[in-house]
Amino acid sequence: MEDQRTPETPRSTTPASPSRPATAGLTSRLARRKPVEELTGETGQLRRSLGLTQLTMISIGATLGTGIFVVLGEAVPKAGPAVVLSFVLAGLTALFSALSYAELAGMIPASGSSYSYTYATLGELVAWVCGWCLILEYGVSVAAVAVGWGQYLNELLHLTVGVTIPEAFSQPPGEGGLVNIPAVVVVLLAMFLLLGGARESARANAVMVVIKIATLLVFCAVAFTAVRDGNFTPFMPLGMAGVSAAGATLFFSYIGFDAASTAGEEARDARRDLPRAIVLSLFVVTVLYCLVALAAVGAMPWTSFADAEAVLSQVLTQATGAGVLWSVLLSVGALVAISSVVLAVMYGQTRILFSMSRDGLVPRVFSRVDERTGTPRKNVVIVSLAVAVLSAAIPLGSLADATSIGTLFAFGLVNVAVLVLRRNRPELPRGFRVPLSPVTPLLGAGFCVYMMASLGAETWLVFLGWMAAGLAFYFAYGMRKSRLNASTPDADAAE
Ligand code: ALA
Repeated sequence: MEDQRTPETPRSTTPASPSRPATAGLTSRLARRKPVEELTGETGQLRRSLGLTQLTMISIGATLGTGIFVVLGEAVPKAGPAVVLSFVLAGLTALFSALSYAELAGMIPASGSSYSYTYATLGELVAWVCGWCLILEYGVSVAAVAVGWGQYLNELLHLTVGVTIPEAFSQPPGEGGLVNIPAVVVVLLAMFLLLGGARESARANAVMVVIKIATLLVFCAVAFTAVRDGNFTPFMPLGMAGVSAAGATLFFSYIGFDAASTAGEEARDARRDLPRAIVLSLFVVTVLYCLVALAAVGAMPWTSFADAEAVLSQVLTQATGAGVLWSVLLSVGALVAISSVVLAVMYGQTRILFSMSRDGLVPRVFSRVDERTGTPRKNVVIVSLAVAVLSAAIPLGSLADATSIGTLFAFGLVNVAVLVLRRNRPELPRGFRVPLSPVTPLLGAGFCVYMMASLGAETWLVFLGWMAAGLAFYFAYGMRKSRLNASTPDADAAE
C-alpha cells in the first residue's frame, strides 16, 4: 500500500498586512518565515520510534566511514604525522556548528534539520538555498562515499580470491571506467533497508556502527604494536599550512554528525535526546579519528601514504607485519562502516526532502507517507535511484569537494539562525543552550567562512553553478507552490 496520507500543513502564518502595496509582493514572499510553532506543530505524520542510543548511532553511522578509511590516505601526504592536529582542527570547526545544531534541534525538532531552522529565522529564500545545499551534503556526498566502498571491496577480493573488479565496472566514465557497479550495489542495499521503516533501518545501522567502531579499535590495537618514535619526526614537515590544508580535506570525515537532527520527527523525546545525540556522536568520532590517525602515522612512515588505496589495510599489511587475516577483517569492517554511512545519509536526505515537500517547495510525492511502515517510501525510491545513477556514472572529484562547500554553507546558516532566534524568540524552551553565545555561534560561522575560502576556485565554480540551478528551480516552482502563499500578497500559486 502506498501514499495513503499526505500531511496537511496549517496554512496560517504571520498575517499579511492588507494595505501592503503589490510591489512588496516579491520581497515579502522571499523573506516570509515559517513560525516555529507551525514547524513543531505539524510533526506527527512519521512514527516516533527512536531513542537516544539510536539517534546517536544515526549520527555516528552517517559520519564515520570513507573519511577515516579512505580520505586519511590523501591527508597524510599534506600534513605528515601532524595529521592528528588536522583532525583536531577540522573537529573544532565541526564542534562550534554542532553546538548550534544541538540548540536548534532541541528547539525545532523537525525533519528538515537546518532547512527548517532557516525557514523559521532567515526566510523562505535562504531556507531554500540551505535545503539545496543539504542536497549537496547528503545526496551528493553519499555518492562519493559509495565510491570509497568500491575500493575496500576490491581490496577484500584481492586479499581473499586474488582478483579485483575490472576498472570498466568499478569506475565511472571519466575515471577510466564505464560504470561503478559496487557503488550502485551499496546504494540499492541501503534502499531496501530504508523501505522497511525507520526503526528497522536504525536497528541495522546500530549493528553496523558497533562493527565499525570495533574494527577501528582493533586497527588501533594492532597498529600501536608497530609504532616507532622515528615516524613522528619531523612532526610537521609541511608546516602549519600543510596542517590546515589536510584539515580542510578531512572536514569531509566529520560531515554527518548532524544526521540525528533529520530524525526530529521520529525521535521519542526529541527535545532532550537530539542535542545529546549530536554532541555525543561528535565526541566519539573525534576521539576515534585521533586515535586511528596516531596509530597509522606512528606505524607507517608518512611518506609511504602517498597514493595508498584502502589506506588502513595498507598500514596493517605493510607496517605491522600482521597476517593477511587482519587486513581481511579490516576490509570487511570498512565495507560495513561505509554501508552504514550510505544508509544513514540517505535516510537524512529523504527526510529533508520530506520537509521541503510538505512546505510545497519540492513536489508533493516526497511527503507522501506509507501507512504500513510510516515512512515516505516513494521518496526513498526516488532518492535512491538518483543517488545510484550519480554514483554509477559521474566522476566525483570536484563534485565531492562541492559537498564540503555546501555543507559549510549550511553549517554557517545554522550558526546565524541560533543568533536570530536568541534575539527574536528568547522565550522559547530550549533543550540545550550553546554556551557563551553569541561568541560561540559567531566563531562557528567564522570557521565555516574560513574553510569555504580555503577551497579552490574550481570548487567555487561548481558550487555557484549548483546554486544557480537551485535558484532557477525555486523561482520556477517553489516560490509559486509554497504553502505559505495563502498568507502572502500576490500569491499566484495554485495547488
Ligand atoms: N563523514 C562521512 C564519511 O567520512 C561522509 O564517510
